[in-house]
Order: sequence, then structure tokens, then C-alpha cells
Amino acid sequence: MKRGLFITMEGIEGVGKTTNLESVYHYINSHDIDVVITREPGGTELGEKIRGLLLDHRNQNIANDTELLLMFAARSQHIAEVIEPALAQGKWVLCDRFTDATYAYQGGGRGIDSQRIAQLEQWVQGALRPDITLLLDAPVAVGLARAAKRKGEADRFEREKQTFFERIRSAYLALAAQHPNRYRVIDAAQTLDQVKMALETIMAAVIKSA
Ligand code: TMP
Repeated sequence: MKRGLFITMEGIEGVGKTTNLESVYHYINSHDIDVVITREPGGTELGEKIRGLLLDHRNQNIANDTELLLMFAARSQHIAEVIEPALAQGKWVLCDRFTDATYAYQGGGRGIDSQRIAQLEQWVQGALRPDITLLLDAPVAVGLARAAKRKGEADRFEREKQTFFERIRSAYLALAAQHPNRYRVIDAAQTLDQVKMALETIMAAVIKSA
């Protein structure tokens, strides 16, 4: 059985990650590929509970290392319960955020040393890394303006300042430069239709070479 492909989608708040992930999911599915869609933090019953703790804005005093460890605790469960079994069965996994978000948010955003994140990555994931990472990139002001239009209360991350998201965007772009074979950077300041088309072109090539 050929192992499935592990595809992740990343970006700052308001770049249209969730909407575009859905369309990538349908695009892959329409090519008769069995694909599992999931997200981080979360993706399992336990992981979704950890997500609740991480996003709850009332948890104001979460230490940076606690935040980092909770991300990896949720990830460990997600890998064991969802990601690895699916990939081993030949299914593709499409994941809304993964460890690059930890490098960007806890590393770039919170200032945790990336070496420390790399140690946890090695411990929790072993050799598991995404095959393809789709980075939706847009200026922070564009993302935050779109995110502000969403209904509902802002979560613990969404309440951060613009400078926090500037550091995250820079960290993502640095990761993309570090891993040019794995990363595909999409200009998310374009219209939704243009972004969708760009993603379909990328996915057509990925499917062709798989
Ligand atoms: P979401 O907005 O994509 O649903 O993700 C929830 C938040 O969690 C988002 O603000 C980014 C944050 N996050 C991290 O800080 N580190 C991580 O490793 C992951 C997966 C998400």
C-alpha cells in the first residue's frame, strides 16, 4: 500500500484558510483520492478539548512554554489517532495548520527558540513531516481587517497586536524560503476566485506527480 500524501495549509488570521481548505479538499476528492480533512490544534476529541483551553481568551496567564507543550500534546494525539493511521492506509491527509504554525506563532510570535521547537518536533513526530505546505500569504492589515468582520468573540490569539502577526508572517515566509521544495506560497490578497484557481493549479501538479 502506497503511503498517502500529507498536505498542510498555513497562514495568519483572515487569509481565508478554512474556506480555501474546503475547496482543496473537494478538488482532491474529485480526483478519486481518499482524503481526510482535519485541523490543529484539534482533530481528535482530546485535541479539541486542548484547543478549547488554548483559544479561550479567559485563560490570560498561559505561560509560553505551557502553550507550546499544549500544542504538541494535542499534536501527539492527532498523529497517533488520525494522521498516521490515515497515511498508512494510503489516504491523503489535508490538515489546517501543523508544526509550521508552532514555529510561526510560538517561535516567531512568542519568541521561543526554534531549537526547542525542533526538539519537540523530533520527539513527537519522529520522521513525520508534511509533503506539501500551502501558505496563504497576505499583508497583516488585510488579514486582520477580514478577521475583524467575522462574527463571534475574538479568541486568545486573535486578541494579539498587529506586531505579533507581523512576526508570524515573517516567520512563515522564512520557513517557505528554508523549505522551497515543500512550500507553495499563494498570494491571498487576491480575490477568492483567483486564490482558488492558484490552489487548483498547484494541486493539479501535486496530483499528477503523486
Ligand atoms: P485557527 O485559527 O487556524 O483555527 O487556529 C487556531 C489558533 O491556534 C491560531 O490563532 C493559530 C494558533 N496555533 C498556534 O499558535 N500554534 C500551533 O501550533 C497551531 C497549530 C495553531
